[in-house]
Amino acid sequence: MEVHLRPLTMSDLPRVLEWSQDEAFCLANGWPVGLPAEQLQDWFVRLLNNPPADLVRKGIVITTPEQPEGYLVGFVDLREVNLLEKRARLRIAIGDESHRGQGVGYAAGLQMLEHAFRELGLERITAEVHSSNNRMLGLLEKLGFKREGVLRQHETRQGIKEDVHLFGMLREEFESASSTLRLETSSPQA
Ligand SMILES: CC(C)(COP(=O)(O)OP(=O)(O)OC[C@H]1O[C@@H](n2cnc3c(N)ncnc32)[C@H](O)[C@@H]1OP(=O)(O)O)[C@@H](O)C(=O)NCCC(=O)NCCS
Repeated sequence: MEVHLRPLTMSDLPRVLEWSQDEAFCLANGWPVGLPAEQLQDWFVRLLNNPPADLVRKGIVITTPEQPEGYLVGFVDLREVNLLEKRARLRIAIGDESHRGQGVGYAAGLQMLEHAFRELGLERITAEVHSSNNRMLGLLEKLGFKREGVLRQHETRQGIKEDVHLFGMLREEFESASSTLRLETSSPQA
């Protein structure tokens, strides 16, 4: 299995509609679970035709020998891209449970970090994670992010106030860790 990033296209809409039924995906994206299809379609068309200037969103595709053309499994964002301050916020969302926990988020995150630091010339990437999201907490540490703080009882999720953990990575930290990180990305589970 290989992981690639590519722009989203209109043909991806059916997959996005499927993901809108997944609770973890909706919670991570701040979507109510089970949004009406028409509402999601309007949002998706707007996103493709008129994306926010400060958003870089790429689709995450896995390819296998059986599906060499690739299969969309989620997306990875750089949000609040600030070219003046050379920073942005990373967010990753794998659309359904069957593709989580197999190294896809790690490979996609690493490729987006390479894009951010090496192609966009950013110098700092941040991430914000709810305290109950053990996977994302583990993933960010594996990618080499440093914990920078906690916003206590910052957001209500499913009726419970949750802490939000703040993470950050500087370009020099990425560059000094990247040989190790690259080695690990070549081996998501088959
Ligand atoms: C969070 C998410 C992006 C992680 O991606 P993933 O492909 O599932 O994670 P990976 O398989 O690449 O795992 C990378 C690391 O994350 C951690 N991790 C993965 N699954 C985990 C689990 N079930 N419990 C705890 N840590 C876990 C581990 O540190 C893992 O490294 P390891 O396999 O060497 O132990 C993905 O699960 C997802 O999209 N979840 C729903 C949406 C979401 O929560 N997005 C984050 C918004 S901030």
